[in-house]
Amino acid sequence: MKATPPSPRCYALLPCAGSGSRAGAARPKQYQPVAGVPMVRHTLAAFTAVPRMARVLVVVAPGDEALQPPDAAVSIVPCGGATRAESVFNGLNALLAQGAAAHDWVLVHDAARCLITPALIGALIDACLPDAVGGLLALPLADTLKQEGADGRAAATIDRAGKWLAQTPQMFRIGLLRDALAAHAAGGFAGITDEASAVQAAGHRPLLVRGSAQNLKVTYPEDLVMAEIILRNRGV
Ligand code: CTP
Ligand code: MG
Repeated sequence: MKATPPSPRCYALLPCAGSGSRAGAARPKQYQPVAGVPMVRHTLAAFTAVPRMARVLVVVAPGDEALQPPDAAVSIVPCGGATRAESVFNGLNALLAQGAAAHDWVLVHDAARCLITPALIGALIDACLPDAVGGLLALPLADTLKQEGADGRAAATIDRAGKWLAQTPQMFRIGLLRDALAAHAAGGFAGITDEASAVQAAGHRPLLVRGSAQNLKVTYPEDLVMAEIILRNRGV
């Protein structure tokens, strides 16, 4: 009698190895306090509150000891790379080395997207688990889109119908995503700004799952103010 293969598990991988140059703070933005605690702590709290998450792996820069794992379900791995994609690629290899299987799922999520909620993570998992490829949280474009000309002025208005802004988490099979990223390693991961772009380049069509305008990524100083207001409004 053949043994039934174990059902795939879900892992979270949080790239947390950036320098936060656009946020203009003295330390990397993921460690800036928001509503009283470092930003990445809010991100971690959302993922560790999802019962279906087998483990959370946080990828930090080599030598970065700012973060201690809050419990046994979280590991901190100092394998951050020069780009976000390289940090994710190294993190996927670490997950596989720690015993994750190629057919397990991984949810990659920016440490700096600290307003993610367990409900949104759950919605992405529900949508992707039955899917052959996987997908990402994204938001239909709300504003009118302009194409800049060579003179820096608005040269064209691009039809916004069918255009989405990619968010995270992005959920794919670990093996599929690792191989999709590996194809860009020699080229320094040029043009790979999210997981879905690598998966698309490998010939797949990720699911677009509606995210939330509140799931913003802290990039500029004013985003930190927005994050603080939203977290306080949630009673955090
Ligand atoms: N990140 C990473 N490794 C890198 C670059 C980024 O793990 N080499 C992480 C960041 O810590 C962040 C997420 O990827 O959680 C999204 O990246 P981004 O918002 O661009 O953060 P930074 O690269 O830190 O900021 P900036 O681009 O302004 O320097
Ligand atoms: Mg960056």
